[in-house]
Amino acid sequence: IPVDTFDLVIFGGTGDLARRKILPGLFRRYSAGQMPEAAQVIGAARSEMSVNEYRAMVREALMEFSDKAEQGEEVIAGFLQHIDYQQVDAQGDDGWEALREKLRDGIVRAFYFSVAPFLFGDIAERLKTRGLADADSRIVVEKPFGRDLQTARALNATLATYFEEGQIYRIDHYLGKETVQNLMAVRFGNILFEPLWNAQFIDHVQITVAETVGVGGRGSYYDKSGAMRDMVQNHLMQLLCLIAMEPPARFEPDAVRDEKLKVIRALEPVLANEVVRGQYEAANGEDGYLDHAGDPRSITESFIALKVRIANWRWQSTPFYLRTGKRLRARMSEIVVRFREPPHSIFGEEAGGRANEMTIRLQPDEGMDLRVTIKEPGPGGMRLVDVPLDMTFADALGPDAEEVPDAYERLIMDVIRGNQTLFMRGDEVEAAWAWTDPIIAGWEEGKTKPAKYDSGSSGPEAALELLHRDGRRWREIRA
Ligand code: BG6
Repeated sequence: IPVDTFDLVIFGGTGDLARRKILPGLFRRYSAGQMPEAAQVIGAARSEMSVNEYRAMVREALMEFSDKAEQGEEVIAGFLQHIDYQQVDAQGDDGWEALREKLRDGIVRAFYFSVAPFLFGDIAERLKTRGLADADSRIVVEKPFGRDLQTARALNATLATYFEEGQIYRIDHYLGKETVQNLMAVRFGNILFEPLWNAQFIDHVQITVAETVGVGGRGSYYDKSGAMRDMVQNHLMQLLCLIAMEPPARFEPDAVRDEKLKVIRALEPVLANEVVRGQYEAANGEDGYLDHAGDPRSITESFIALKVRIANWRWQSTPFYLRTGKRLRARMSEIVVRFREPPHSIFGEEAGGRANEMTIRLQPDEGMDLRVTIKEPGPGGMRLVDVPLDMTFADALGPDAEEVPDAYERLIMDVIRGNQTLFMRGDEVEAAWAWTDPIIAGWEEGKTKPAKYDSGSSGPEAALELLHRDGRRWREIRA
């Protein structure tokens, strides 16, 4: 779908996120022919820089981070024509008037806050009071959206001073991932799944987001955050919501977000013995967490596993197990929906066959499969085997299918289109903190140390035990 022409200002235009994700995302849309001819992208930052210097920086970022850079000089040069730069002082007066003059009337205006959250208020205020933003302008804000309920509320209140909720796009890039959206398509576009999608038929759900990267250069940010704040409160929570929510009446922003909010509000408090925290140690030729943490005695977790219960009719007695960590054996993000066993086996226990399982693979190798039981071929009597009904998107949709878009390019285009469905509403973010705060407070008060795990392993033993004692097992983390 084509988008209207736009002015997009990226505050923090020289920063890491802009270089790694935002600009390459825009470049992909440009390469796909979806960038309107008159669209303008203005990097804004503290540094003094000419337009040409900024363009050179953007070119370098594309060479380093864009998979489309091999399209060649001409395409890159074409994209750079859309790029401008303006030096601004986020907390002072400089540059704002010049930035205002660059903006054009009568087209979509979006302002991307790719800066530290303490600057959100200063920028929002200047946009509004200096006439850069009008009633139709949009602002895009990145996580971390607060570090607890109190700070998130304060941030929401600050933004609400200058902008309506309908203008605020809180990014959770997991919602932009293709498979995550597919989850909704599969759940609500088929008759097959929804009748079984409840505690009567689903034994449990596992959500795993395993990363191989460590905290490396982000140590000082990460050490104040940890896996719970960095990943669970936002990304895993969003996945949980999309699996657990009731069907919204329409695929529209508030209809979807209302249903997600109900899930978050129905989460039960987590018991202390149902959370496992871990911190990676040097092993397998990789460094340890404490090598980068800044504080050699840091007790921040780089891994967390927890058992989550949703107190409503649909999910009573179906636990959701969540885990995420850095420096694990493989990069693997997937959701496993494990159905219950058939109530009675007419073939006898020894025939084999297991419970059905639906796996939703976010990355790598996006797709889904559904494990079903069939007869093993051959004359050997009725022996059963499990086979996957495989929906690897790349195979199923064939070579002519559009390639899987990156989360950011999809979300930025949604901002331009004015579609908030895949963005978090303020009350959702607050409800998520209201649930995570007491869990975090529990270990902060007790100064509980995370369990050590080897770099390159599957995380601490205790995380396996969390499921074993319920008679269940995690899906193996493997490449
Ligand atoms: C970010 C976290 O939000 O998501 C990072 O701050 C994490 O710590 C990243 O590595 C994971 O995103 P993706 O898209 O690589 O799974």
